[in-house]
Amino acid sequence: MKAVVLVGGFGTRLRPLTATTPKQMLPVVDRPIIEYVLSTLERGGVSEVTLALGYKEDLFRAAYPDAVCGGVSLSYAVEPEPLDTAGAVRFAADAAGLDESFLVVNGDVLTDIDVRSLWERHHETGAQATIALTRVDDPTRFGVVPTDSQGRVLGFVEKPCREEAPTNWVNAGVYVLEPEIPGRIAGDRRVSIEREVFPAVAAENGLWAVKSEAYWIDIGTPSTYVQAQLDLIDGVRGAAMAAVAADAHVAEHAGVDRSVVMDGASVAAGAVVRDSIIMQGALIDEGALVDGSIIGPGARVGTGAKVTGMSIVGDRMSVEPGRLVDGSKIPMGD
Ligand code: GDD
Ligand code: MG
Repeated sequence: MKAVVLVGGFGTRLRPLTATTPKQMLPVVDRPIIEYVLSTLERGGVSEVTLALGYKEDLFRAAYPDAVCGGVSLSYAVEPEPLDTAGAVRFAADAAGLDESFLVVNGDVLTDIDVRSLWERHHETGAQATIALTRVDDPTRFGVVPTDSQGRVLGFVEKPCREEAPTNWVNAGVYVLEPEIPGRIAGDRRVSIEREVFPAVAAENGLWAVKSEAYWIDIGTPSTYVQAQLDLIDGVRGAAMAAVAADAHVAEHAGVDRSVVMDGASVAAGAVVRDSIIMQGALIDEGALVDGSIIGPGARVGTGAKVTGMSIVGDRMSVEPGRLVDGSKIPMGD
């Protein structure tokens, strides 16, 4: 199986972290998100992946100079300007010369969805496209996908308001497409697969879906970026991963509770870190509190400062000693 992985978005909701690092290159516990995505595809039987790139594409190339990642071989399709999700699929399918069924995956989704069974179901029904569905509490942030009892898609509504969401089953960002689909996507403008292509294919009765109860999370918001990592250290997805990197330093009298402390980070005596992510090389000084927040690479939280309420401290930024930061981003407005 071959796959296109969409990694060209700006990661706006994760600013300021994504000002320096594209979303799919942000670390999750011990390695970039993209490596989890590609390993899951490899386990499902995918051997070749085309990364559909745009924003900060050079950082992907630099990280994988041999064009191998997560056990799959990589090729790169770099859009001259962002073409949106369907435009990116068309561009990447042309670049890779895809002329048989192929998978498409949103590169910011961590999941154990079985792509092999999605592939098999797609070929049983003769669909033009088959979407994996996952169940969420709040469907308004996703593509909402009502189906009949066989799995034929009755409609596709991207990010509806709550009254307009007919079901909690949503697009998981994992698809199988027939090679004719890229051919019907306009090549000269931005095209959304969710707002334009899927509703049209559903109207022709060519769109099918497969429901999955497997682990699934889209890491594209601060709270889900934190949650995905807490799930890994809590053992929600198999064996629990180590929360504190081998070369991180946590002082004896520091309190680190249900948090990730990445490579080279340091938590001083008397500091408390709870339900948070302390990224590479960040420093948490004595008596500081970090609660439900993200401290970016090389950032520093000064003595006695408090960072709470899903705040994000950007790369190499500092919180002055004693300062309170609650529900904010530093730098502000980013
Ligand atoms: N190459 C390229 N070009 N990639 C893009 C572009 C583009 O112009 N725009 C977005 N992407 C990539 C993003 O980097 C991300 O990996 C993926 O496409 C999806 O974009 P998001 O911005 O993360 O979309 P979303 O999370 O709001 O919604 C999408 O995912 C949900 C599931 O997580 C939709 O597909 C929803 O229908 C779906 O439910
Ligand atoms: Mg997303």
